[in-house]
Formats: sequence, C-alpha cells, structure tokens
Amino acid sequence: MSVENKKVGFIGGGNMAEAMIGGLLKSGTCNAKNLCASDVSRERRNHLETVFGIGTTEDNCSVFDSCDIVVLAVKPQVMDSVLNGIRSDCAPEAKNGSGRLVISIAAGVTTAHIEKFLAPQVPLPVIRVMPNTPALVQCAMCGMFANRHADESHRADARAILASIGMVMEFDDESFLDVVTALSGSGPAYIFYMAECMVKAGVSLGLSGQDAFTLTLQTMKGAVKLMENSDDPPEELRRRVTSPGGTTEAALGVMMKNRMKNRFEETITEAITAACKRSTELSGTNNV
Ligand SMILES: NC(=O)c1ccc[n+]([C@@H]2O[C@H](COP(=O)([O-])OP(=O)(O)OC[C@H]3O[C@@H](n4cnc5c(N)ncnc54)[C@H](OP(=O)(O)O)[C@@H]3O)[C@@H](O)[C@H]2O)c1
Repeated sequence: MSVENKKVGFIGGGNMAEAMIGGLLKSGTCNAKNLCASDVSRERRNHLETVFGIGTTEDNCSVFDSCDIVVLAVKPQVMDSVLNGIRSDCAPEAKNGSGRLVISIAAGVTTAHIEKFLAPQVPLPVIRVMPNTPALVQCAMCGMFANRHADESHRADARAILASIGMVMEFDDESFLDVVTALSGSGPAYIFYMAECMVKAGVSLGLSGQDAFTLTLQTMKGAVKLMENSDDPPEELRRRVTSPGGTTEAALGVMMKNRMKNRFEETITEAITAACKRSTELSGTNNV
C-alpha cells in the first residue's frame, strides 16, 4: 500500500507540520481525508482545518491510535511528556507494533529514546528526520535515519513523505544526523547571515536597502543555479568569476587576507563543528 492510501497523522501542528502537510497535499502524495493532526493550541488546530481541510484534535492518542504513520512534530523539550502520554493513554495494540511507523523530526531525540519510551518490548519502526526551514517552500534538505525495525517499505513511505517537501538523504549511522543538523539543519541561518552582510555592505556604499537586497538575493539565486547546473565544485566556479586584476579578485583578495588574519575558512569550519558538537550534546541531554 502506498502512502497515498495510508493515514498520516501529525502530533504537534506547528510550522514544520504545516510545511509537511502543505507539501503532501500540494504534491498529491496524500489526500486531506487521510491526514490529521493533534495540537494543544486551538488556534493552530483551527488554522490547519481552515487552510488544509484536515481533521484536527487536541488528543494525541486519537492521532496515534488511528494512523498508519505518525509524525512526531513537537519541540524536543516537550517530547518526553508527549511520549509519556502516548505510552500511558494510547491503545496497547496501537503501541505494540501492528506495523505502525513513527517518524520523528525533533532535533536531537534518538530513535532508541523513542523506542524505549513507546514500546521497549516490541519492535517499533522509528525513522528520525532532520529537515530544515526551506521545507516551508518545498525546498528542504532532510537527513534521515531508520532504526533496525524499519523495513524497506517503511523507509519508502518516509522518503515519499519527505520528497513532498524537498530532498532527502539517508544515513545508516544515526550519529551523522548531528552533522546534518550542523550543516543543513542550521545551514539556512549561515546563508541568511551572508546575505545580511552583503546587504549591509551595499547600503554602506550608498544603495537603498531594497536595491541592496534585490541585488544580493538575485546573486545568491544565480550562484545556486550555476552550482546546480555545473559539474564543477564551488572552488572552480569561484576561480572562473575571478579575472586577474579584476573586481572579484580585489574582493577575494581582502577575504583571503582576512582569512589569514581572522581565519575566515577556519571560522566557518569551527562554527559548523560547534553546531555539530552542540547537537551531540543536546542528543545526550534529551535522551535517557
Ligand atoms: N523549525 C525548524 O527549523 C526545524 C528544523 C528541523 C527540525 N525541527 C524540529 O521540528 C519540530 C517542530 O518544530 P516547529 O518549528 O514546527 O515547532 P512549533 O511551530 O513550535 O510546533 C510545535 C507545535 O506543537 C504544539 N505542542 C506543544 N506541546 C504539545 C503537546 N503536548 N501535544 C501536542 N502538541 C503540542 C505547539 O503548541 P504551542 O506552541 O502552543 O506550545 C506547537 O503548535 C521540533 O522538534 C524541531 O526540533 C524544526
């Protein structure tokens, strides 16, 4: 049975769930009648019902009990109380297998932690996913890890769901999800910071904020498109923009000089390594 014919439920109906529900409907992967969500907030529930025409409830167990695929989309800090609620209140047969797939998008919560909470005695297929905010425009980069109980059909379902919000890369070692978190999970913020700096520089040289923003945005889009359409690595594309004695060389000369002084490249590597370390630390705190 394909995802199209399965019931998919979201526990936590916030930003990420909204992006995923929107992607599933827009891509035709799922039908609104097969989607549902639970959330503590009446406002969120009304919003999801109005925008997508899906069923909503405040009862997490009614989503867990009735769905073939359950997406845990609450913040990591409330995950344990949500898992406790499922463990104590949901139908025993719902927790004890029956092929139900649990997908978690919560940062730093391991599959073993979810298994241990929900069904320590039975094999529970759990797939952990790290998406990023471009999911909101169906352009996410997701890292995915499936536990040993998830078979190929579970993984195919997860891939189909994630394909509706962007691209997915599968890993067979869960610890790589900390690297994914540091690179693509937090990555959009690095790009936004670069954009912020470029806009500020344009303004400092006399452009209006709007013009500096448009120039920066279109440049980023164009550069991304070039990378997408080229077999060459970024350093080769950079070399090609850089004519000897030209303007780009002047700018890169400053960046390279500052790289030695302020360690530009090392700063990026150090920053991403710090994000990865933090992700590993959070995994340690969130998981017992
Ligand atoms: N946003 C990102 O960039 C990003 C990237 C990768 C992964 N993630 C992961 O995605 C997950 C969701 O993030 P998000 O940005 O969508 O968060 P969000 O917008 O805060 O959504 C979570 C929703 O769950 C609701 N909620 C809180 N407690 C609940 C409970 N006990 N039962 C049911 N619903 C409950 C929240 O309601 P209240 O607001 O009223 O508490 C909120 O509407 C997080 O675990 C995060 O780590 C997010």
